[in-house]
Amino acid sequence: MVQDIATISPLITARRSGLAYDPDVELTDLQITSLCEAAHWAPSCYGDEPWQFVVWNKHQNNDAWQQALDCLVPGNQTWAQNAPLFFLTASSPKFKHNDKPNRWQSYDTGAAALNLCLQATHLGLVNHQMGGFDADKLKQIFHIPDEIECWAMIAIGAPADINTLSADLQERALQARSRRPLMSNFHHHGWQGQTK
Ligand SMILES: Cc1cc2nc3c(=O)[nH]c(=O)nc-3n(C[C@H](O)[C@H](O)[C@H](O)COP(=O)(O)O)c2cc1C
Repeated sequence: MVQDIATISPLITARRSGLAYDPDVELTDLQITSLCEAAHWAPSCYGDEPWQFVVWNKHQNNDAWQQALDCLVPGNQTWAQNAPLFFLTASSPKFKHNDKPNRWQSYDTGAAALNLCLQATHLGLVNHQMGGFDADKLKQIFHIPDEIECWAMIAIGAPADINTLSADLQERALQARSRRPLMSNFHHHGWQGQTK
């Protein structure tokens, strides 16, 4: 029987880019390892696993965490300063088996990043990917090799009451998540015109 309303996994509906983090709750090693495990079970072209992650934990190395925070654009710093954990999502540009360019490196790394975010959601943790950061500065400070592609930072932490946020961030946090109509991104039996 065809359902009238298509249902999707509750994990997918529960994940959202959160803004309210409790800076005082230290994540356990087990939680952090499970985030890494989830990321590395992502599929990848040739099983190459091109992703590379760097983790900063405020409760273990505040100086390094602060330097990572300083690489975020100011708008992201306003809320991410309360997230005790950051991940850098990066990747190696060449296949390991033949040293040729891996043009799926970003595709695969995005899949790994989403796995990580879904696992964070599963653990009841707030998470938020950010493209707004200075990759050159981050690479320089943390000696990340030139050839490594830096894609996004991810803030993770225990949830806080949204009353802890400023009024404008509270408004943002309470906004309903929305998506464009399916028709604008999905095509049937051939391309249907629009390219945006
Ligand atoms: C690659 C990437 C970069 C993003 N960069 C930022 C960012 O710099 N700052 C921010 O507040 N949100 C950022 N976001 C979060 C998006 O704005 C968010 O995913 C989108 O609005 C959909 O909301 P949802 O994740 O709650 O479903 C980014 C998301 C992705 C996947």
